[in-house]
Amino acid sequence: MRTQKNPLWITAVLSAATLLTVTGCASAETSQPKTSSATKTATATPTPTFDKTAHSIDDPSSIWVVSNKLRPLNPIDFRPANLSMPVGVENEFNHPLSEPAARAVEQIVAAAAAEGVSMHIISGFRDYGLQQGLYNKYVARDGQTAADTYSARPGHSEHQTGLAIDFDDHGNCYLNACFAETAAGKWLSANAAKFGFINRYPAGTESITGFQFEPWHYRYVGPELAAEMQRTGVNTLEQFFGLPNAPTYAN
Ligand code: DAL
Ligand code: ZN
Repeated sequence: MRTQKNPLWITAVLSAATLLTVTGCASAETSQPKTSSATKTATATPTPTFDKTAHSIDDPSSIWVVSNKLRPLNPIDFRPANLSMPVGVENEFNHPLSEPAARAVEQIVAAAAAEGVSMHIISGFRDYGLQQGLYNKYVARDGQTAADTYSARPGHSEHQTGLAIDFDDHGNCYLNACFAETAAGKWLSANAAKFGFINRYPAGTESITGFQFEPWHYRYVGPELAAEMQRTGVNTLEQFFGLPNAPTYAN
């Protein structure tokens, strides 16, 4: 049997490759020393974790309660026990709010005023009966299909929790989409989260929330959740908590 010797140049290349492999490994070992667990503990930046179970999304008295067309309040005629009248805020129908939303609205309206932006409350807490009267009025006026796009049926409205506020600025955009373009609408959009509020019915989310864009409707969820939604760019409670879209009622 004939043995074939590698030509000289192949032998040279093979030797160099072997040398590179060995020294490469060695140098990798020495240049990247293993980090001891003690060092890791001292230098690692803790990853902030947000506890999505910190508050209930089912309890109607929770600041995180999610109420929509598929999630009626339970009980359906729920009435908050901690209603309080905001102080120093113009309030068209003298609606109270639940704590801590009642105090938070005093702060947000004062902060806006300090920056030259005037706003006041149209609606705050509306009980089951009041929501029923409003809804029935809209159904009689526009028909049920249209009314369902902008008015919640009783037992499904965030206003019944005392945590929702409709704002106005005495301009020409009372409960109208153009409120988004007003100084008050823009200020709220930019600053509400700091005070624990989110715009609950953002533009383009009708198929998720079930309701048309309402730039005037803010919902108190607390500064932690508002900040986390802002940080993650998730702008509906349904998506944030992994709940089904709620475009229509179950029946
Ligand atoms: N306009 C909102 C959806 C309500 O009626 O609660
Ligand atoms: Zn509202």
